[in-house]
Amino acid sequence: MKVIVTPAAANQSISLTINDRPETVTVPPRTTLAEILRDHLDLTATHLGCEQGVCGACTVMVDGRPTRACLTFAASCEGATVETLEGFKDDDLMDRLKAAFHRNHALQCGFCTPGVLATARDLVERLDTADEVRIRNELSGNLCRCTGYVGIVESIAQVIDERRGLGLPSTGAPRVAREATTGFAPFDADIAERPPAPAVSSGTMTVEDGWSVVKREVALNHSADAVWAHFSDLDAVAECLPGAKLTDHDASTFTGHIGVAFGPITAKFEGEGTYRTDDSSRVGTVAGRGKDRGGQSAVEGELSYTVRLAQGDPDASLVDVGFRFRIQGMLGQFNRPELVNGFVDYILAEFVANCDAVLSGGEVRESKGISAFAMIRAVIGGKLRALFRRT
Ligand code: FES
Ligand code: FES
Repeated sequence: MKVIVTPAAANQSISLTINDRPETVTVPPRTTLAEILRDHLDLTATHLGCEQGVCGACTVMVDGRPTRACLTFAASCEGATVETLEGFKDDDLMDRLKAAFHRNHALQCGFCTPGVLATARDLVERLDTADEVRIRNELSGNLCRCTGYVGIVESIAQVIDERRGLGLPSTGAPRVAREATTGFAPFDADIAERPPAPAVSSGTMTVEDGWSVVKREVALNHSADAVWAHFSDLDAVAECLPGAKLTDHDASTFTGHIGVAFGPITAKFEGEGTYRTDDSSRVGTVAGRGKDRGGQSAVEGELSYTVRLAQGDPDASLVDVGFRFRIQGMLGQFNRPELVNGFVDYILAEFVANCDAVLSGGEVRESKGISAFAMIRAVIGGKLRALFRRT
């Protein structure tokens, strides 16, 4: 048997600033930021739990934003500013958080604590008020198997109050201004043969009474009549939604399922719901709920959409999309705003591209379901910033 051996890719030198110290490490391209911190610089406060982006134990600050060190390749950190728990010595907010964690019994084994403190400090600096629902939602990307979160949430709320009491305003934004991305050479894609891409504009994401509420405006290069005809056909809409399958429907009710893969967690939500469309106002609404087969997660939500004429162009239209949902169980981490925003933008971009293809006489591309990895791949090509954008 002939064995082909592929030579290992050459090591790369990466220069970055870690806890205010310039560092240069020479590592293989597949090395993660977590490996640099722990194995090369002995900064072992950064813990590794799942190494799949799920538990948040490895959270550190990269260019002022909480970031999964286990998912961040070293090569993408060229020129970055990284802060680990070791770097927060003599930091007033971190000292207050540590005292509050001690006071409120916010840790037991402490494994999650470095990642939780990194996220907590970001929240304390960024949030105006100590709103418990908001804190719990923003903290949902950090898993703690010991504490039940009560002490952690209380600590964060107390330090937000302390910060306000000191007259320090919330930043509402990351601490360090984001600088231009380095380490990637820009290139011009050859798009001469492609039709103009439909645009998914940015919108808002808020948390209201435990519901994640997302609003987006979508532009399509087709007349409002054609878009409405497409949007009022439930079979056509489901076909364009990645991972979705209608199993049955009548004039107002439906059953179906949708597949989701997020890190090591996969779920197939089987669900049912109701829908209605109003031709005169071109408004459609869909309400539904579903459970995954293992009973680990449940989702309920309402979707509304309004198709409008685009001003000045009879061959273009705008669709206002409103979506409110809540997820319980293992996939509850999707309620985290930056993940929701990235996820919604990814799904909408796929959905709109499929609608555009169908309205242009083409076909929907084959979908294997909704995958966090597919989402991350998609957003890397120009949407990475949107994934971590603050709302
Ligand atoms: S170790 Fe990075 S998220 Fe779990
Ligand atoms: S304190 Fe043990 S995992 Fe959080």
